[in-house]
Amino acid sequence: MLPGTLFTFSLLFLGAFGDALVRLASPITHDPAIAHLFSQVRSIAGIVAPADPVTLNQTRTKILSLLSTFPFPPEVTTATHPEQLYCETSWDSPAYADAASAMSQLYNRAGQECNSNFGCEGMQAWGTAEIGVCGPFGYSWDCKDVGGMAFWILAKCRRDLGVMRVGGRYLFDRWWTEYPADVRVYRRP
Ligand SMILES: *[C@@H]1O[C@H](CO)[C@@H](O)[C@H](O)[C@H]1NC(C)=O
Repeated sequence: MLPGTLFTFSLLFLGAFGDALVRLASPITHDPAIAHLFSQVRSIAGIVAPADPVTLNQTRTKILSLLSTFPFPPEVTTATHPEQLYCETSWDSPAYADAASAMSQLYNRAGQECNSNFGCEGMQAWGTAEIGVCGPFGYSWDCKDVGGMAFWILAKCRRDLGVMRVGGRYLFDRWWTEYPADVRVYRRP
């Protein structure tokens, strides 16, 4: 094969696999009840967190109260994915309401591409929380699916710690590489 042809072939190969949005097996992302929950969270949260501390506190309180009435589906409260799902928090981890607000923005970005850009990329922030994607091959997901994976982290932290803080990772392997990619919730840098 001529070098030029090989180069073109490589680009096609990378294009075919690198740009395709991965369809998640997760039932969470497309659960209409969760999509509805996040549309309600988003209407309270707005696009960015209020700068005024009193308003921020009131906004967080409203979001926590909304989330407290939501019946978490059994698969996120009983099923465990120890090899895939980690709640890792510290005193510095983002506030629960902030992580939920960042997720609500991702749910609203359905159809947009969230790409790890050959490393780690922040996808959405709100207040103290940021949600990012890490992967060595420019992993791409529908942003709503990234929100759905982040929701698993939130649900796991809620089960382990209550509604204080959220942080952690949801690992996701592609069949054609041994390198895992993941969605992360962490303190906004
Ligand atoms: C709001 O402020 C009060 C008083 O400082 C505090 O106890 C409460 O935890 C705050 N609520 C949130 C959601 O941060």
